[in-house]
Amino acid sequence: MIEPPVKPIEWLEESIRIIDQRQLPLCEVYLELKTASEVADAIKTMALRGAPLIGIAAAMGVALEALHNKDLEEATFKAELENTIASLRATRPTAKNLFWALERMEGVLKAAQPTEQAVADLRAEALKIYDEDLETGRRMATIGAQLIKDGSTILTHCNAGGLATSGFGTALAPMYLAHANGIRFKVYADETRPLLQGARLTAWELNKAGIDVTVICDSTAHGLLRQRRIDIVFVGADRITTSGDFANKVGTYGVALSANASGIPFYVIAPTSTIDLDLASGSEIPIEERSPEEVSVIGGTRFVPQGVKAYNPAFDVTPHNLVTGFITEKGLIDRPFATNLKRLVRS
Ligand code: MRU
Repeated sequence: MIEPPVKPIEWLEESIRIIDQRQLPLCEVYLELKTASEVADAIKTMALRGAPLIGIAAAMGVALEALHNKDLEEATFKAELENTIASLRATRPTAKNLFWALERMEGVLKAAQPTEQAVADLRAEALKIYDEDLETGRRMATIGAQLIKDGSTILTHCNAGGLATSGFGTALAPMYLAHANGIRFKVYADETRPLLQGARLTAWELNKAGIDVTVICDSTAHGLLRQRRIDIVFVGADRITTSGDFANKVGTYGVALSANASGIPFYVIAPTSTIDLDLASGSEIPIEERSPEEVSVIGGTRFVPQGVKAYNPAFDVTPHNLVTGFITEKGLIDRPFATNLKRLVRS
């Protein structure tokens, strides 16, 4: 069994330690977060990011806050923790995993008493969410690696790697296993404007693991797909609806369209915690809009003329008809997605 290629988050009992992803690849800097409000800030400012990781971090944030409030009388403790959960919910709107993890923490909070028990149970639940994510990554790696053929070329968008999870990743997890098994393949990583998660993070972690990775401009992907220089596309997801429409980093939709036009398989790799059966289709997914400066300012210099606006939706929605299959920890599913996703989540 392979080991996780990176450790983006670590529980240290009275704090958590994270890699500051804003500084990669130039500096590998670790931050120690001691309170839920520091965790919320790290999620908002994207010191840590990626759907599964923000869920894990938020759960650990609740557990930390419980610890700091352990001397409060029960009703005040529960009210304090409910406020903490609400503030963590308000950090980023698109990834289902954040809400899924906080729902689990809230369930534990409601069920546990006295306060001392709640503190212990919340800590245990946060660590369980972390451990389950590691296992989920291992399983998705095993299922997805079977699709990676010797000599093949894979395209990925954004960072759905170890850095976006507890350590294995989703879309990148099969690549780590295939590499460990001696399969030879190469990866094109879209740079992923505006925050360059592909160029900075995907390239960093694949390169560190010895995997052959080449960064391309986002717009280059379409020509490569048309020329059939890519055999398969692996992406992650932030929220998958019942229909199979899903949200992922902005630009994913275009990649799916081009892959479809050339008949190239397009797989979404995500844990079942990303699936939202309360939403029927992609148009219902809340899409985060981030600061226009992320688009107009590069490396501290504004490149867009003063007075010109910039628009920065962080995600887009890809319709289910462009998806070849979903790989989750419970298996690979194909059409009809509406029936199969429901069956999978409930199994
Ligand atoms: O804005 P980000 O960097 O949090 O966006 C991340 C993505 O879009 C990932 O592809 C997605 O969360 C899947 S991560 C396993």
